[in-house]
Amino acid sequence: MSRSGKVTVVGSGFYGSTTALRLAEYDIFETVVLTDILEGKAEGLALDMNQSRSIEGFETKVVGATTTADGAGYEASANSDVVVITAGLPRKPGMSRMDLIGVNAGIVRGVAENIAKHSPKAVIIVVSNPLDEMTALTQIATGFPHHQVMGQAGMLDTARFTNYVAEKLAVPVSAVKTLTLGSHGDTMVPVPSRCTVNGQPLTSLLAASDIDELVERTRNGGAEIVALLKTGSAYYAPSAAAARMAKAVIEDSGAIMPVCAWVEGQYGISGVYLGVEAKIGRTGIKEVVETALTHSEVAALKVAAEAVRSKQADVKDL
Ligand code: LAC
Repeated sequence: MSRSGKVTVVGSGFYGSTTALRLAEYDIFETVVLTDILEGKAEGLALDMNQSRSIEGFETKVVGATTTADGAGYEASANSDVVVITAGLPRKPGMSRMDLIGVNAGIVRGVAENIAKHSPKAVIIVVSNPLDEMTALTQIATGFPHHQVMGQAGMLDTARFTNYVAEKLAVPVSAVKTLTLGSHGDTMVPVPSRCTVNGQPLTSLLAASDIDELVERTRNGGAEIVALLKTGSAYYAPSAAAARMAKAVIEDSGAIMPVCAWVEGQYGISGVYLGVEAKIGRTGIKEVVETALTHSEVAALKVAAEAVRSKQADVKDL
């Protein structure tokens, strides 16, 4: 099996470390770099992951590096092909993702500047919250072309929606296809018209009130887990989503995924980072894919765009 490329995961919390392990276990990268500002944490986790290689059967080498705010340690990430930014604080119970904007903006800006310095060609996948705003900020701080910077949210929200539908109808998750667009927040837009179970429209299998209930649970999917965990937020499904996006980049797969991407004219919306479907490859976003939506779904997407647009305009001053 041929391995190629280097992926860096910034932040060794549960989200970052789980993402790094998934990426290493794919066994497609030459190197996975994991970083953290807590001295020794990334190195320790990397050592532990490397020691699992002979059991799990992967050869990808994991490298840990301690970084500082002034940029020390980022040499380990130099010339990465893909970078996943997980840095920042997670929510506490009762908090909205937007409550994190002030503190995480400072952290993400610093990380983005250091990444741009050492890996000018990297495709960046942002997962820090509030997601849509941190993605926009990363593009501004790096100065990278928009297609080189994307955010992870739609894959996760879609996976949550799929799980709820599968449980409700007692069918395998593999039989279910769902879609969510819009923001990773209050203006998330689950798209029932694009949801099917064994190829049949969801709308023919569940009453509108049942679908509404699942849509609402999807919209609150992250908060439900934060409330149960009491400290920290979700990371198994989030890391699965981020790792699949990084895989699509390095394999230049052209897979169409719901991601946070820069929108220019699609659905009549322009100049904003928003959850849409896009074709993912070696250069990042190859193309935003506009799909058939109902009038009310397009209207909801426009509401989401305006909600994130005003916050994204503020973010450059934070
Ligand atoms: C969530 C966080 C990671 O939705 O945004 O769980």
